[in-house]
Amino acid sequence: MLPVSPRNEDIQSLGERGWFTRDRLLGEPEALALRAEALARVDAGRLRPAGIRRGADHTLDTATRGDLITWVEPGADEPAFARMHAAFTQLGEALSAEAYLGLGRFDLQLACYPGQGERYARHADAFPGQSNRRVTAIYYLNPGWEPAQGGVLRLYTGEGVVDVAPRLDSLVVFLSERIEHEVLAAHAPRLALTAWYYGRTAG
Ligand code: OGA
Ligand code: MN
Repeated sequence: MLPVSPRNEDIQSLGERGWFTRDRLLGEPEALALRAEALARVDAGRLRPAGIRRGADHTLDTATRGDLITWVEPGADEPAFARMHAAFTQLGEALSAEAYLGLGRFDLQLACYPGQGERYARHADAFPGQSNRRVTAIYYLNPGWEPAQGGVLRLYTGEGVVDVAPRLDSLVVFLSERIEHEVLAAHAPRLALTAWYYGRTAG
């Protein structure tokens, strides 16, 4: 099993601030194996524009959200993806036990920003009372990331703005209803795996 147990200070930060980050979560070999499987899906054309549906004709607004996405299922053919799916299961169980979050199932998404300035405008992943998404966990797959490449995740926290670099093998976890966030323009390809955990009462 991959080691993704939250530390005491992570649990404390999630409770007090609504978010935490971790660097060097799995180690570089595992992170690069995940990246290789992600790139294979990208190269095979398996990702689709996420966009946001707007208006009566539901046109796809890619200016608000410019990434391409696909879903990673628990039984994924790719071995590192399958291991990571199990690791996210373990992470959700640990957060439930230690942070009393009552998490149940989750969806796992692979997202790619091609790097031509795509962004994801400020939003929340859930709205109180409307959705049962409780926790968002994002794991990044970008080796050698530098500021000029953009694609920073900007969190809007009670203590002000916090910028998270989408570096290889780093994880950010936040409360889906509480922490608004945005992805700043990406000027190089940017890959991430995102899990959204639902409350146990979700259907
Ligand atoms: C999302 C999102 C942030 C990121 O997909 O909802 O906010 O850093 N992603 O990829
Ligand atoms: Mn989001």
